[in-house]
Amino acid sequence: MNEQNAPATYQLPPQMSTVAAEVDWLYYFIYWLSVVLFVAIVGAMIYWAIKYRERPGHKAEPTGHNLPLELAWTIAPIFILVFLFHKGFQGYLDMTIAPPNAIEIRVNAKQWSWEFVYPNGGSSDKLHVPVHKPVKLVMASADVLHSFFVPALRIKRDVVPGMYTTVWFEATQTGKDDIACAEYCGGRSEGPGGELPYEPTNDPDNPYVSGQMTGHWAMHSRVYVELQEDFDKFVKSIGDKCDAYRSEGKICPGEVAAAEGQKLSVSKGCVACHTTTGMRLVGPSWKDIWGKEESTDKGDVLVDENYIRESILAPQAKIVTGFQAVMPTFSGQISDPEIDELIAYIKSLK
Ligand code: CUA
Repeated sequence: MNEQNAPATYQLPPQMSTVAAEVDWLYYFIYWLSVVLFVAIVGAMIYWAIKYRERPGHKAEPTGHNLPLELAWTIAPIFILVFLFHKGFQGYLDMTIAPPNAIEIRVNAKQWSWEFVYPNGGSSDKLHVPVHKPVKLVMASADVLHSFFVPALRIKRDVVPGMYTTVWFEATQTGKDDIACAEYCGGRSEGPGGELPYEPTNDPDNPYVSGQMTGHWAMHSRVYVELQEDFDKFVKSIGDKCDAYRSEGKICPGEVAAAEGQKLSVSKGCVACHTTTGMRLVGPSWKDIWGKEESTDKGDVLVDENYIRESILAPQAKIVTGFQAVMPTFSGQISDPEIDELIAYIKSLK
């Protein structure tokens, strides 16, 4: 059922997402605009350089000042730039604000691998997504700056330590594409004889054993765009693995356990001020707080990963209307994985 979207061109990979056509249109518009202006400007320069060159019997004459001409070439580019800004900003907003029904997949980046955690807690080093469904990626880095890049989907977004970044897309055809890190995030180490730190495999979908590779270059994965039933099958298979872990009383690798967050809310003392029943204590109750628009002293904020993280590390930054700024900071007393667990717990209270 491969629909024929625009195939790869000399310059660009095939279009596999809803935003791809618009991104490419803007790319080619800027490209051809640059070609036309380059030819016109350089052409005029060469023509006049030859025409007015100094030669016997001909003296170079300055042309002086031409006000209408100077106004024209100052004002005309303004219209072009405003148009480009408008198109770019519109596209940026479209790509930033995910539809509310998007499937949420967590992306954990670290030197030098990608991990994808699905809604049922199962995780994989490959990204599987259903076709024709919006998918939202919530991304975090365990160490340094990375950048999540899928050429055929036309998405690229930095993954930054100490905060959550998101990106969303809707794939328009089944197939696969590469996932690359687009931010230099560390060098590779070579073997004692200078040999490359990876070993080729026979698997065409995974030509190298990623565990044996190091460096930015090794931070490579695949996205598989599948029919819904194949996606469901995949998610169930990794979920079953989780169930096996859970039956042994362990948590699934990659899973952020709401249960661990609940334990933390007691051991860190959160429960002294925040209830989970809707009852008001010193701070807002956590019941149904996830995804809510809260009014604060700095304006309305959406209660999402970044707001909860900020509220834990810098509680004075945005105070919910009607509450006092009394919470102490937990900066230095709580780790990033622990913040993830608290967020998972607060999410579960919805
Ligand atoms: Cu991660 Cu480059």
